[in-house]
Amino acid sequence: MAAVRIKDGFYWVGAVDWNVRDFHGYTTHRGTTYNSYLLVDEKIVLFDTVKAPFFETLMAHIREVIGDPQKIDYLVINHIEPDHGGAIAKVVEAVKPEKIFCTRNARLGMIGYFHREDWPFVEVKTGDELKVGRRTIKFLETPMVHWPDSMVSYIPEDRILISQDAFGEHYATSTRFDDEANFCELFQEVAKYYANIVLPFSPQVQKVLKTVRDLKLELDMICPDHGVIWRRHVKEIVEAYDRWSRYEARPRVLVIYDTMWNSTEKMARALYQGVLKEGVEVEFFKLSVSDETELMAEVLEAKGLAFGSPTLNNGLLPTVAGFTTYMKGLRPRKKLGVAFGSYGWSGEAVKHLNRIFEETKTEIVHEGFKVKYAPTEEDLRKCEEIGRLLARKVKEACGVQG
Ligand SMILES: Cc1cc2nc3c(=O)[nH]c(=O)nc-3n(C[C@H](O)[C@H](O)[C@H](O)COP(=O)(O)O)c2cc1C
Ligand SMILES: [Fe+2]
Ligand SMILES: [Fe+2]
Repeated sequence: MAAVRIKDGFYWVGAVDWNVRDFHGYTTHRGTTYNSYLLVDEKIVLFDTVKAPFFETLMAHIREVIGDPQKIDYLVINHIEPDHGGAIAKVVEAVKPEKIFCTRNARLGMIGYFHREDWPFVEVKTGDELKVGRRTIKFLETPMVHWPDSMVSYIPEDRILISQDAFGEHYATSTRFDDEANFCELFQEVAKYYANIVLPFSPQVQKVLKTVRDLKLELDMICPDHGVIWRRHVKEIVEAYDRWSRYEARPRVLVIYDTMWNSTEKMARALYQGVLKEGVEVEFFKLSVSDETELMAEVLEAKGLAFGSPTLNNGLLPTVAGFTTYMKGLRPRKKLGVAFGSYGWSGEAVKHLNRIFEETKTEIVHEGFKVKYAPTEEDLRKCEEIGRLLARKVKEACGVQG
C-alpha cells in the first residue's frame, strides 16, 4: 500500500485494515480503512492519525511524500476516537508538531486519553480559519456527530471537506475513490455505518447540513476517516445523509423475532404472509441467526417493524432484549410497529415490546397479539390480519396507492 495523491499537494497517508471483523461489536465483513491526510503547502499539515497498530504504516506513507515526518508543522485532530487518535502520542513524539488544532472537547479528550497537558494545543471554533500558504483551512464544529470532540475541516481553494467519521464506511479497498469501488457494496456499507454509528445524532446531522448550506460550502470532494473518498457521488452521499437524518423510510416491513418452541415463529410467518398479501416488501429475521449490526442497516429505511418474542422469565428472550436495547440506543424514529408472541402463563413479552416502541416513539398500529402456547388456525388468521393492517398503515404513511 502506498500514499495516494488526492489532489495537488493533498495526499492520503492512512492505512487499510483488511482483516478487522469486529469493530467494538460492529461486524466489519469488508474490513475498514483509517484515513489520514497530508496537506503540503507552505505549512505541512496532517489531518487525523490512525489506529495505534498502524502507526508505522502512517509514518511510511508520510515519508514517501515528504521524507522527514518532522517537516510536518501542524496536526489537525478532527476526532479523537482511538481508531483515528490511537497513534497521536507516537505521532506527536515523531513529528514534534508546532501546533495541534482541535476543538475544546478534543483537547480535553486527548488529555483524558494521553494525560499530556503540555502538548501545543490550539482550540478552534466554527468559523475559525488557518492560512497555510496558498490554501486556507476552515474549521466547523460538529458536536455529537458522533462524539463531543468532533469537527470537520474545509479547504475552500480545493473545495475539499475532511469530514472525520461523517460520510465514512467500514470498507477496505485497494483503491481510494468512490468511483473505483463497487457502488452497491459501498452504499450498503455507508448505510450500515449511518444506522449503527450516526443515527442517534440525526438532529445534529441536520444542523451540520444546514450550516454547510448556509455557508454555501461547495464540495468537490469529501474525505472521510473511513472508506472511500467521495468525488463522483458527492451529491448522492449528502442527499442520503439528509434523507436518513430526516428518518425518511421506504414502504417496507421487517418481521424480527425469536422463538424457543416455534409458536412465535408460526405467528411471525402468518404476519409475514399478511404483509405480502398487501403487496408490501417484507423481510424476515430470526434474531438468533441474524447479525445485529447488519440488521440495523435494514431497520434504517424500513417504515414498519413487527417484533415477536415469547415470554421468558416474565421478560423477553435475551436475543430480542439484546437487539431491541441496541436499537433503542440508536434512536430510530418515525416508524410504525406491532408486537406479538407466544406465552405459557404470565405473558409479559408483548407489553415489554410495546414499551420499546413507546421509547423509540414508534407509532403502535395494533395493541399487540399474544397467544397461549401454540397458535390455532384462528390465531394465525389474526396474525395475518395484523400483518395486513401494518402493511396498509405503512403504505398510507409512505404515500403508496392501493
Ligand atoms: C459508538 C460509541 C458510542 C458511545 N456512546 C457513549 C455514550 O453515550 N456515553 C458515554 O459516556 N460514552 C460513550 N462512548 C465512549 C466510550 O464509553 C469511551 O470511548 C470509553 O473510553 C470506552 O471504554 P473501553 O476502552 O473500556 O471500551 C461511546 C463510544 C462509541 C464507540
Ligand atoms: Fe468515531
Ligand atoms: Fe472512526
